[in-house]
Formats: sequence, structure tokens, C-alpha cells
Amino acid sequence: MDFIIKKILDWQSKDVVNIFDEVNLWSAPFGKLLLENIPMRPGMTVVDIGFGTGFPLVELAQRFGEKSKIIGIDIWKEAVARTKEKIKVLELENIEINEQNAINIDILDNTVDLVTSNLGINNFENRTKVYTEIYRILKPEGRLAITTNPIGTFEELFNLFEGILKILGTADDVEQFKNYLSNRSTEEEIIKEFEKSNLKFMKSKSEKTNIRFATAEAVLNHSLIRCGFKAGWNQFLRLEIRTTFYEMLSEKINQTIKNKGEFKMSIPMLYLEFRK
Ligand SMILES: C[S@@+](CC[C@H](N)C(=O)[O-])C[C@H]1O[C@@H](n2cnc3c(N)ncnc32)[C@H](O)[C@@H]1O
Repeated sequence: MDFIIKKILDWQSKDVVNIFDEVNLWSAPFGKLLLENIPMRPGMTVVDIGFGTGFPLVELAQRFGEKSKIIGIDIWKEAVARTKEKIKVLELENIEINEQNAINIDILDNTVDLVTSNLGINNFENRTKVYTEIYRILKPEGRLAITTNPIGTFEELFNLFEGILKILGTADDVEQFKNYLSNRSTEEEIIKEFEKSNLKFMKSKSEKTNIRFATAEAVLNHSLIRCGFKAGWNQFLRLEIRTTFYEMLSEKINQTIKNKGEFKMSIPMLYLEFRK
């Protein structure tokens, strides 16, 4: 055996408890789709862009094993610190962290076998520059594998948004909302954007998941909505209409719950793979 078996992780120790929540429920189904499809060989050099609090970076390091080199790139200082804690407690020696913007990656040309990003691309401010960097660092025939949520995300909720804004807002409010929605693209549009950076489309997998709620209050106060969505909504919901908008939205959601027993929001999931 050419490796050492590491010590048992004591689940009662504070260190282990602190790192135990590896991935949140929003990221997990996308991560599962990614991990079930990425190309995998021993000794690969893998770059994970936008790993946040360590996902899938830490999982990749454990799946590819210690002969691999897994490099994480992210700009989120506090999350990077938490990821480093996880790496320390898990005694992972095959991870290197580059706390930097992916528009300018500190890695040599033609040196990487696989680039991954779980739910990263919607968050990159300058996607084209990031894609150009990915192309540069990949070896010839190297792969890029991403997951993302395309258009159709939270369709049931956004249909209600549109109906309410048409009653409550101006034509401009409806337009601003449509602009917000157009930030999500179709599969074809996403593929085209990568192809502009010379990455060649190889395969895609689509799956659906959903998130169910028992009350309107539960929808609007869920941490996922408060953390990841409300700030974006408030950009097209003018202050003058915001309170009434949320009141009307609550009523509509509760009406759906009365009729159907729950409020279900769809989440389409897309895995895309490209090669250099
Ligand atoms: C939605 S989070 C996804 C986190 C994680 N991959 C997961 O599945 O939970 C997007 C991540 O991309 C990072 N990010 C955004 N823009 C970036 C950039 N230009 N370069 C590197 N990381 C970036 C954010 O800091 C954040 O950690």
C-alpha cells in the first residue's frame, strides 16, 4: 500500500462538528449531478471555480484521492477561511487554494485536466473573461464541467410575480422584472456563450428538482430566499409598491396552498461538459 490510512474522525470533537455541514440543500442536488458525470481518472489536476465554503472542492479532493491535485479558486474571503478549516480537519494534502478572481487565474497554460464549477457561472461578473481563462489553463482535450440552473427556475413563483406586477406596477416595472428573468438563459444560449471562447460542447444532462413550502411566510422568509434572491428582487420592486407586492404575493401563494396543499417551486438543473 503506497498511502497512509488516516485516523478516525471523532464526531464528538468540536473541530469535526464545525466542518460537518459540507453542503447546503440548494447546492447539493446540483453537486450530485456534477459528481455523477465528471470525467475521473487517477492523478488528474482539477480546478474548481467558485467553491464558496468548500463545495465541491473538498469532495473532489476526497474522490480523486491524494495523487491528484485539486485547486480551488474563489474571491469570497470568509468562505475561503472556512474551507481552509475543513481541509485542515480532514487532513487533505491535495488541495491548493487560490483566493483570486477567476478573470485572472494564476495557473500556467495547458496544465489542467478538468475545470469544474457548481452553480458558479451565474455569479461571475465577467463570464467571457473567466471562460477565456478556463480555455487557457486547460490541456488540449481537457474538460470543463459545470452545473447551473437555467431559465425556468422558480417558474411557479415568477408567474405570480408577473401577474401581480401587471396589476400593481407600471409597464416599466414589468419590463424591469423581465430583464431580471432574462439573466437566466436557455441551455442553447449557455452553450453558445462557452463556444464563443472556443470550448467545444461534448454533452449535457438535465434533471429537475423542486422545493416545497407549507406557507407563504415560509417561502418569503426561507434563508435561501433571504440570502440568494431578495436583494435581486428588490432591484426591480420599487419601494412604493414593495409592501403591497409582498402582501399580494403572500395571498396568491396561500391561495395555491389552499388549492393544492403546498407551494412547489421548480428548479431545472443542467450539467454541461466541454473540451478544449
Ligand atoms: C452560488 S456560489 C456556489 C458555491 C459552491 N460551488 C456551491 O455549490 O455551493 C458561487 C461562488 O462563486 C464565487 N465567485 C463569484 N464570482 C467569482 C469570480 N469572479 N471568481 C471566483 N469566484 C467567484 C462566489 O464567491 C461564490 O463562492
